[in-house]
Amino acid sequence: MDKIVSLCKRRGFVFPGSEIYGGLANSWDYGPLGVELKNNIKQLWWDRFVRRRGDMVGIDAALIMNPKVWEASGHLATFSDPLVECQSCHERFRFDGPDSPSTKELWNHISKKHPETIGTLKTDATVTSFNLVEKDFTKPKQFNLMLKTFLGPAEEQTNLAYLRPEIAQAMFVNFKQVLDTTRRRLPFGIASQGKAFRNEITPGNFIFRTREFDLMEFEYFIEEKDWEKWFEYWQNEMKEWITNDLGINPKKVHEVEISKEDRAHYSKRTIDFEYDYPFGQKELYGLAYRTDFDLKNHEKISGQNLKYRDPETGEEFLPHVIEPTFGLDRSVLATLLDAYHEDEDRVVLKLPPKLAPYKVAVFPLLANKPELTKLAEKICGDLRKHFTVAWDDRGNIGKRYYSQDEIGTPFCITVDFDSLKKDDVTVRDRDTAKQKRVKIKELENYLHGKIYS
Ligand code: GAP
Repeated sequence: MDKIVSLCKRRGFVFPGSEIYGGLANSWDYGPLGVELKNNIKQLWWDRFVRRRGDMVGIDAALIMNPKVWEASGHLATFSDPLVECQSCHERFRFDGPDSPSTKELWNHISKKHPETIGTLKTDATVTSFNLVEKDFTKPKQFNLMLKTFLGPAEEQTNLAYLRPEIAQAMFVNFKQVLDTTRRRLPFGIASQGKAFRNEITPGNFIFRTREFDLMEFEYFIEEKDWEKWFEYWQNEMKEWITNDLGINPKKVHEVEISKEDRAHYSKRTIDFEYDYPFGQKELYGLAYRTDFDLKNHEKISGQNLKYRDPETGEEFLPHVIEPTFGLDRSVLATLLDAYHEDEDRVVLKLPPKLAPYKVAVFPLLANKPELTKLAEKICGDLRKHFTVAWDDRGNIGKRYYSQDEIGTPFCITVDFDSLKKDDVTVRDRDTAKQKRVKIKELENYLHGKIYS
């Protein structure tokens, strides 16, 4: 993990947020390469799940919604985590119960920061028994994770609003308008991408858990009788996306059935896709059967009719919903972790070419030969009409290759003296390090085939 965090900072994928002011805990900014990778994942997702399908449409909704939305969705009442506070220093922790891993965290806190309170108890760092630390913390209380803000100049209750804790609600709230304007028939989905905000008690592990993060998800509206069929269908589609599109090793992905006690308040069945991060097996994505929970509650609280009318039978009913949800920052993290390889003395990010920030790098063999530089600049300019292209004329060619390998650039083009005579260049492949001569006029087609096939 340390290697990834340091590579991300050194090469401009992800920077610590507000760093010149000493940072802001667990906030991260995507740099020039990170924004390309993140946008490529977003774009690929939108193409695969929205543009290329006849049964999906997209929306892009406001981040702040009428607070009644959160009353209807159940977030005001139930979107909370149990919190305990250290009696000595008042630091706060999420606490999931005496038998959970969070007990170990409490123990670590007491043994490191307040060892004097341990007294005669044994000081074994592996101890996880809750009664060893129970006296040092307040009783758990529920802490609502929604971030509050005020709209307008007066900070009073009537102006209270929330930054959305999930993007799903906009797709329920706009369900009727999408239906009326697009004349869709069941089954169909509404997709969205964007920021969500949660006042997490214990954010951490780089971009894994932060207080603002990007989501990509859709609500797939179906008839109740078909939910199992569609659940299985989307489970397979999610698997395909993870392994084929993000190129993640299937052995590192686990599908975990979530028990009733641990499911979100709206879900009748949930499967989490978990990934083997360096800090343990943890959630990457989720798939939930949300029943008609959301539409039913919005109908009740808004007083509007949100029913679907079957065009053939005339029957009116509330559709049920399958929700595949994809954390975008976790997609970036898992993709980077899985792509990271140390190959003898080089570091290679074996990103799927479609996702690589730069698709190709162009080098003149020697920077001080104007005829080489001129031709290389021409090739670079022509390729930039079709691909993201890096330019490098510093140091020796070997170093330039290694520098591109580390950021995942799949192809490097070297313009040498033969290029001036034969109108061809060397194209070097990141993964095999093999080189091939390709005619300059064929470069665009050659690269296109390799990157997008
Ligand atoms: N609409 C359903 C929903 O929001 P969720 O499981 O609470 O479900 C969806 O969140 C996804 O968002 C997760 O699977 C995970 O990928 C990502 N996620 C959740 N909390 C996060 C956080 N604090 N930081 C980064 N990503 C997060």
